[in-house]
Amino acid sequence: KEGDTLCFFINGKKVTVSHAEPETTLLSFLREELRLTGTKYGCGGGGCGACTVMVSRYQPATKTITHYSANACLLPLCQLHGAAVTTVEGVGSTRTRIHPVQERIAKAHGSQCGFCSPGMVMSIYTLLRNRPQPAMDDITHALQGNLCRCTGYRPIIDGCRTFCQEADCCQANGAGDCCLDGEETLEETQREKPELFDKREFLPLDPTQELIFPPELILW
Ligand code: FES
Ligand code: FES
Repeated sequence: KEGDTLCFFINGKKVTVSHAEPETTLLSFLREELRLTGTKYGCGGGGCGACTVMVSRYQPATKTITHYSANACLLPLCQLHGAAVTTVEGVGSTRTRIHPVQERIAKAHGSQCGFCSPGMVMSIYTLLRNRPQPAMDDITHALQGNLCRCTGYRPIIDGCRTFCQEADCCQANGAGDCCLDGEETLEETQREKPELFDKREFLPLDPTQELIFPPELILW
């Protein structure tokens, strides 16, 4: 009967599940039922962030849509009724269009074995859906649940910080000592610390191109 059927959306497609097992997690459903294996199984216990997805919900009281990142390994499928889930497959791919978050992490050398990368992408993607021009603190806060065993985090952060509007320069940030003070010219400073990527190559972030929230879930 209708009360036994879950209805939610994954990457814009409606999914219905009848008589879902209470212990089924979103992660096992994505990987085993839908074969969406971009969402990784790392620890299975909420500790590594490899399984991060974005969950969006319509809030009738405020008539707004909220987006939050979630560990799919901890999320019971039965909790998703009325939600819209976005996985890394819904964000972009090399077969269709790569998303700026994916491009920047890759070009900044933030992906080595790549196992953590989908989770990193989803954490930053969710942040950008909520705040397209984040501050540096927002970036580090968004990534605090994502572990990487390869990169040492610096290249990942370097790629993600290119979404920040803040100036990189310590003088612009109000610090006392600045890289522009003293004898060194800016050119000399940059020569000593060569960039590993060229920001001018990056695709711009265009929030109007993101998948919309399913209207059907607003009309419920
Ligand atoms: Fe590690 Fe979900 S698999 S947090
Ligand atoms: Fe290997 Fe992050 S790139 S775990």
